[in-house]
Amino acid sequence: MTLVNVELGDRAYPVRIESGGLDWAGQMLAPYARDGRIVVVTDRNVLAAQGDRLTAGLNRAGLEPDGIVIAPGEESKDWSHLARLIDDLTARGVGRDDHIVAFGGGMIGDLAGFAASILKRGVGLVQVPTSLLAMVDGAVGGKTAINTTAGKNMVGAFHQPSLVLIDPDCLDSLPVRELRAGYAEIVKYGLISDPDFFAWCEANGPILLAGDQAAREQAIALCVGMKAAIVAEDERDEAGRRALLNLGHSFAHAIEAETGYRLLHGEAVAIGLCLAFRLSAEHGLCPAEDAERVESHLRAVALPTTLDEAGLAADGERLAERIRHDKKAANGKVRLILARGIGQAFVVDDVPLDEIAAFLDRQRQPLDA
Ligand code: GLY
Repeated sequence: MTLVNVELGDRAYPVRIESGGLDWAGQMLAPYARDGRIVVVTDRNVLAAQGDRLTAGLNRAGLEPDGIVIAPGEESKDWSHLARLIDDLTARGVGRDDHIVAFGGGMIGDLAGFAASILKRGVGLVQVPTSLLAMVDGAVGGKTAINTTAGKNMVGAFHQPSLVLIDPDCLDSLPVRELRAGYAEIVKYGLISDPDFFAWCEANGPILLAGDQAAREQAIALCVGMKAAIVAEDERDEAGRRALLNLGHSFAHAIEAETGYRLLHGEAVAIGLCLAFRLSAEHGLCPAEDAERVESHLRAVALPTTLDEAGLAADGERLAERIRHDKKAANGKVRLILARGIGQAFVVDDVPLDEIAAFLDRQRQPLDA
């Protein structure tokens, strides 16, 4: 078992990473239950794959889950599902002193987390992530959101959980495509600030994806530790530190929105990471070999690395326009995360949008054109 503390003063909370932890969830969640019941928000797929384990784990401590089940998929992270969820929580009498449990992947963590942040001006939240992506990123750090027609995560709030419970055994039932997509976020941590960890990924990524328990627990613990440290330093994403976690994400969000969320978030992140490194290399900021190394590792684990693989019909200008909506933009310039090399990401505040558009157009031309 690994315990990582997110140091946020009187809002500090533990992230408990423990194989088989779900089987003992009742013990951990008992302080957040009322009259032996605890409201759990989940989706149909997670319910089918892990619902019995969570129920048995809760029952073992005399707790009963009161489940709210959402349709799976990113489409559920919208206004209409949020409104329905708020009604369902209100009908159950959830109040300021209660906690709700977000039991699922990134969509559930974001939707239930956002509902918790606004219901009665804020109710308690416990995150129990079941996807690799949510374990290493979404469930830790308090960012919650829904998507709107303007783009991904356009409406949201910071709402820190009281506890994050990670049971890596949940990954045993995760479809391999989703596992791989979550792995892109793991690679991201190495690319931001830890070249040794990126080298570890090159050596161990394939066995991690094949189900090696030690490798996945090691990676999850390391990523959660890195994220907890960043969040403790820059909780509200104001000091330029937390922004580093968005390496590849401006491109990824544009790709996701442009493809109607057909790509999984982590798949779009894999392409976004390659684009961030390629753009850095084109500007002479980062060695071309580093950009090639990033692409080659992601390709080796069967993640997409090019816009063509995303099947994008959009031109660079359209994607750049999406990026403008996604991020703070002023005078035709946006903030992007670029890199001086593997493990050396940094924030650039004034990348001209027309340069991004031209760069994206070049990515979509055949190599021999
Ligand atoms: N997923 C990026 C962040 O939590 O800041």
